[in-house]
Amino acid sequence: MRTVRLPDGTLVPVLGQGTWPMGANTALRANEIAALRLGIDLGMTLIDTAEDYSAGEAEKVVAAAISGQRERAFIVTKVHPFNASFPLKMPAACEGSLKRLRTDCIDLYLLHWWRGQLPELRCHVPLSEIVGGFEMLKQAGKIKRWGVSNFARDEMIMLQTCPGGVRCTTNQVPYSLNARGIERDLLPTANYPIMAYSPIRVVPKSAVINAIATRHGVSPAQIALAWVIRHQNVIAIPKSGNVAYTRENAAAADIQLTQQDYGELEVEFRL
Ligand SMILES: NC(=O)c1ccc[n+]([C@@H]2O[C@H](COP(=O)([O-])OP(=O)(O)OC[C@H]3O[C@@H](n4cnc5c(N)ncnc54)[C@H](OP(=O)(O)O)[C@@H]3O)[C@@H](O)[C@H]2O)c1
Repeated sequence: MRTVRLPDGTLVPVLGQGTWPMGANTALRANEIAALRLGIDLGMTLIDTAEDYSAGEAEKVVAAAISGQRERAFIVTKVHPFNASFPLKMPAACEGSLKRLRTDCIDLYLLHWWRGQLPELRCHVPLSEIVGGFEMLKQAGKIKRWGVSNFARDEMIMLQTCPGGVRCTTNQVPYSLNARGIERDLLPTANYPIMAYSPIRVVPKSAVINAIATRHGVSPAQIALAWVIRHQNVIAIPKSGNVAYTRENAAAADIQLTQQDYGELEVEFRL
């Protein structure tokens, strides 16, 4: 599978796997684990989760999926803004994730921030403290690298002016045919890889996508995914709780969209 180079030179697959809301329903757990394991076999070795997903249960699903093959996986998890203070809460939150993931080091640890949070959920910890905390966890060998999620362009500028802020590995943001906002500001100026979440979920049913999918002999979701990863520095993390979707998603990395396809999608899904 095509790879994307992280700022420290590490290569990760252009397609990873999301995990929200895995672990919430125990009846689905075996299928979720099987889907993640198949995804790893098919090259989608980057797995995105968070301490917040299903109150920690998603991290436990990931632990089961990587059991016996930890070295094949690149684990991304996230610290909730409530737990971002350092040294008050972040080290304990990180230990909690490590324990649930049954690993001793997180490959990429993200600040799980988002705009428009309720006032009581907003992150009141200064960015410089969060960056300092991430760097301390790195020195302690608990995480290999760190990043953020849902940072707007102005927030990325603020981050990169903090001491150590330029060491941010990624910004995880929504990006799909139906959510193209980052093309206006973040994407053209990003000197780091963007991690695109919800690449399929918010794409509406469309006769145009269906026709393109038929031409390629693939599914509409695969077209939506292939479109998201057309950029050199964009990684997409579709979530699938079943092996059939997982197979489709991995195969989307091989789809070559044509100029005609891009043109039609551009008209249907205007920026
Ligand atoms: N940082 C953040 O704030 C943030 C926010 C949202 C999400 N995320 C991360 O990004 C991941 C992906 O985003 P998402 O889960 O919102 O949306 P998504 O991956 O775009 O869509 C997931 C939905 O699409 C379905 N699906 C998967 N593959 C499919 C296929 N080939 N054909 C048809 N349907 C398919 C899934 O079905 P099943 O239900 O059957 O699996 C699920 O209902 C999350 O799981 C999470 O890890 C991060």
